[in-house]
Amino acid sequence: QIPEVTLHDGLELPVIGLGTYALNGNEGATAIQRAIEENGYRLIDSAYNYENEGTVGEAVKRSAVPREKLRITSKLPGRYQTYDKAIKTVQESLYRASLDYYDLYLIHWPNPKQDHYVEAWQALIDAKKQGLIRSIGVCNFLPDHLKRLEKETGEKPSINQIELHPYFNQEQQRKWHEKNSIKTESWSPLGHGNDILQQVTIQQIAERHQKSAAQVVLRWHYQLGAISIPKSANPDRQLENISIFDFSLDDAEMNSISSMTKPDGRINDQDPAVYEEY
Ligand code: A2P
Repeated sequence: QIPEVTLHDGLELPVIGLGTYALNGNEGATAIQRAIEENGYRLIDSAYNYENEGTVGEAVKRSAVPREKLRITSKLPGRYQTYDKAIKTVQESLYRASLDYYDLYLIHWPNPKQDHYVEAWQALIDAKKQGLIRSIGVCNFLPDHLKRLEKETGEKPSINQIELHPYFNQEQQRKWHEKNSIKTESWSPLGHGNDILQQVTIQQIAERHQKSAAQVVLRWHYQLGAISIPKSANPDRQLENISIFDFSLDDAEMNSISSMTKPDGRINDQDPAVYEEY
């Protein structure tokens, strides 16, 4: 049984979900179905921009697990942030996935130069009122963006999904979320494209606990209080990634992981420039 957290709007989410970036087509649907049926995943992340909402919907349809046990996520692209476009995009996402509702629908990034994210947020609030979405959140928002949403609409996000891994521990941002009852969700929790799993800090801790490097990193996310969504197409690694609840890291281990930096010494924590990429 996977531990769950309760969002401020009452929706319960398991603390580990499946990332699905690049899981597409029949192969993708099979991988997601196996994650659900064989490996115990209930939270599935996706996005309009991943072009795999249909793949996720197909896995949901094929799976023997009842729809109401699942938590399906998608995201509104930056280019559809006017009110009308946002409403239509939510509907389009539902058609693509053949779903009646999304459990979680997020604004993919603030797209701050365009500055339409507040009206997009109002569209998500209204889509939620219409029963198309159970919980609404955002991704890659900085505190100033988050503050505006609540100030201008009276409703704050349940979740902010941010890049979070040992090279980018997002301490200030996480503290801000906690103070404001917004849950942190980690994308690229294993540091996709980096070499975190090979680093000696992680390897030594893994050996001490007789766990894999990925399990140590995902346990670190869990103990930070973050929901993480590691992507794996491989059923063995899917199971490995969700099997992190029979050991724990002590304070010294947590701190040594949190203070890891890229081998080139670059510390990108709190650099708003990273958000320009999405
Ligand atoms: P694969 O799909 O072949 O398992 P992130 O979610 O941080 O972006 O990381 C995803 C990447 O990490 C994918 O390339 C995935 O490959 C790989 N990955 C996922 N789980 C593990 C694991 N337990 N051990 C090693 N690599 C993993």
